[in-house]
Amino acid sequence: MVQLTGPKKIKCAVFISGTGSNLKSLIQFSKKNNSPISIELIISDNSKAKGLKFGKIFKISKKVFNFKNKIIAEKKIISDLENKNIKLICLAGFMKILSKNFIKNFKGKILNIHPSLLPKYKGLNTHKRVLLNNEKYSGCTVHFVNYRLDSGKIILQKKVKIRKSETAKSLAKKILIQEHRLYPKAIKEVFNL
Ligand code: GRF
Repeated sequence: MVQLTGPKKIKCAVFISGTGSNLKSLIQFSKKNNSPISIELIISDNSKAKGLKFGKIFKISKKVFNFKNKIIAEKKIISDLENKNIKLICLAGFMKILSKNFIKNFKGKILNIHPSLLPKYKGLNTHKRVLLNNEKYSGCTVHFVNYRLDSGKIILQKKVKIRKSETAKSLAKKILIQEHRLYPKAIKEVFNL
């Protein structure tokens, strides 16, 4: 568990691959007085990730790494994270699977958000699978990252009801709104706030 020591905010890096709407909500949260984190670095595996624009807008350093060679990419990332004294990593729509070695380096300090009620529907195409199974509810989960995909200890979840006319698109939209609220709440929970 991450310990909050002294009045200073914990330095955090957010990893993204796409739109970055969760990144935006985390940045807004980090700027509040009662937030335990400050976001110091945005990392992406995708130079075209739309969310990278938030680096410019909010004046936060951003870096893109080519994951074709994952070992090299992760080595560079670890060194950047150490140089910036990053103590918490938030994965927010980051589409690469981090290696065991990377996770070991930041054990208990990596969080992820997943758009389902874990342990159900780990992995990709969540909403489509949920609808195919005629589920009545879905939702989102913030959890610690361990060595198995979407399987670490759950911090918080939010349930949403599925309408009869729901499509994968409408469900994704509905859940994303809840994700933006859940991630900051889960971070507070991690710091016992
Ligand atoms: C979110 O639904 C997140 O749960 C999933 O990917 C999506 C990312 O959205 N892992 P955004 O990039 O934060 O807008």
